[in-house]
Amino acid sequence: MLKLQISSSPPNMSCMYSYNSIPTFSLLSSRSFPRSRFASKPRFHCALGVTVAEPKVTSVAEPLLLNAVRGEEVERPPVWLMRQAGSEDPLIVFKRNSLEKFSMNCGLWSYQILCEKHPSFRERSENVDLVVEISLQPWNVFKPDGVILFSDILTPLSGMNIPFDIVKGKGPIIFNPLRTADDVDQVREFVPEEFVPYVGEALTILRKEVDNKAAVLGFVGAPFTLASYVVEGGSSKHFTKIKRLAFSQPKVLHALLQKFATSMAKYVQYQADNGAQAVQIFDSWATELSPVDFEEFSLPYLKQIVDTVKQTHPNLPLILYASGSGGLLERLALTGVDVVSLDWTVDMAEGRQRLGSNIAVQGNVDPGVLFGSKEFITERINNVVKKAGRGKHILNLGHGIVVGTPEENVAHFFEVAKGLRY
Ligand code: CP3
Repeated sequence: MLKLQISSSPPNMSCMYSYNSIPTFSLLSSRSFPRSRFASKPRFHCALGVTVAEPKVTSVAEPLLLNAVRGEEVERPPVWLMRQAGSEDPLIVFKRNSLEKFSMNCGLWSYQILCEKHPSFRERSENVDLVVEISLQPWNVFKPDGVILFSDILTPLSGMNIPFDIVKGKGPIIFNPLRTADDVDQVREFVPEEFVPYVGEALTILRKEVDNKAAVLGFVGAPFTLASYVVEGGSSKHFTKIKRLAFSQPKVLHALLQKFATSMAKYVQYQADNGAQAVQIFDSWATELSPVDFEEFSLPYLKQIVDTVKQTHPNLPLILYASGSGGLLERLALTGVDVVSLDWTVDMAEGRQRLGSNIAVQGNVDPGVLFGSKEFITERINNVVKKAGRGKHILNLGHGIVVGTPEENVAHFFEVAKGLRY
C-alpha cells in the first residue's frame, strides 16, 4: 500500500491509496516522515481537498506487518517466525543445545557455522556484525514480513549489575541469584545507550538493510519473566523460588519488578529510536501465575511499560507474548498492547473473540505442525488464517521453531503464507 505524505497541515496525516485506489486517511508518526524531505516536492490535490506531495516522488511503502496491525487494508496476513522457543525443562534445554539443534536451526540459515566459530552466545548476541548477520539469516532465505533482532531477553541483565551467561547444555545461568532486599538494592537501572550500544547500532543497520520491505522487530523481556530468571538462577520447572519470594516477601519482589518495568520501558523506547518498527514483549512465564497473582505481579508492570512507551511512541506497535496464555487472555488485553500473540492451545477464532476487535492477533500454528506433511501444513495455515479473519492478524507459529523441524517445511510454511490472498 502506498502512503503519501501530506505537505500541508495537519502535519502527521497521510493520504493512503488502497488497492482499489480510493484515498483514505491515517495518522503517521512524524519520526518516520521528516517534513523537510517533502518541502520542495511538487504537490497535487487528493480527493478530500488536501494538498499532498506528488505520489511518484514521495510514495513510501510501509511494511505489510505495520499496516496489518493498524487495521489497514492488506491483501494477506504478514508472516514471520522466531528461532527460539524457551524451555524450562533442563532435558529439553540440553537436547536443544545439541548439534542436532544447531543443524536444524542453522543449516539453511548458516547459524551453525557462526556457532562453531563463535561458541559463546553472549559474543554472538553482543557483537554488532554478528547480531546483524544472524538477524538477517532468515530474511535472506525466507523473506519474512518481520525481521527480529538477534538478542535475548536476558541481554540487559549485565548492564543492570546482574551477571549472567547462556551456557551450552544448561541454558541461562544467573551467577548470583537475587533473593533478598539487599540483592534487589544492588540492581542498577538500565541505561541502554550506555550498556547495550550494539543493540541500537545493529537495529539501525537492520533498518537500512531491510529497507521497509519487512518490519524490523525489537523485543524485551517482561518484568515477571525477567524476575523469574534472576530469582530462580536460570530456567525453572516449578518456579518455587520466585513464588516463595512473591508469597512471603512481596515487597522485595515488587521492588525488583519496578526496576525491570522502568528499565524495560526505556529499552523499548531506545529500540524504537534506533530503528525497531514494532517491539514484542515476552512474558513467557507469566502464565505460571494464577490469574489473581498475574494481576498483582505481572499486569501492573506490563501496563506501566505500555503506558510509558505510548506517551513517547504512540504509533509503535507493541506485541505481547505469554506462552500458555489461554487462561489469561482477557487480562492480557488489559495491558493496552496492540497485538496479543497466541500460542496454539487457544482456538484462533475464540481468542480473537475474547480479545475484542481493537487488538490484533499473532500466531498461532502449532510449531509441531511443521513436522507434518506439506498438505497438512497448508491446511493448518489456511485454518488459522480463516479463523483469524480479514486483517489485524500476523501469521506466526504459537511459539518458536522446535528441534529437528525439517527446513523444507519451514520454506513451505513461508511459501504458502506469502501466496495467501484474502
Ligand atoms: O529468532 C530469533 O533470532 C529470536 C531471538 C531470540 C532469542 N531469545 C535468541 C536465543 C529471542 C526473541 C529470545 C527471547 C527469549 N530468551 C525468551 C522469550 C521467548 C520464549 O521462548 O518464550 C526467553 C524465555 C529467553 C531466555 C532463553 N535464552 C532461553 C530459555 C534460552 C534457551 C536455552 C537453550 O539452550 O535452549 C535462551 C538461549 C537462546 N536465545 C537461543 C537463541 C537462538 C538458543 C541458544 C543458542 O542459539 O545459542
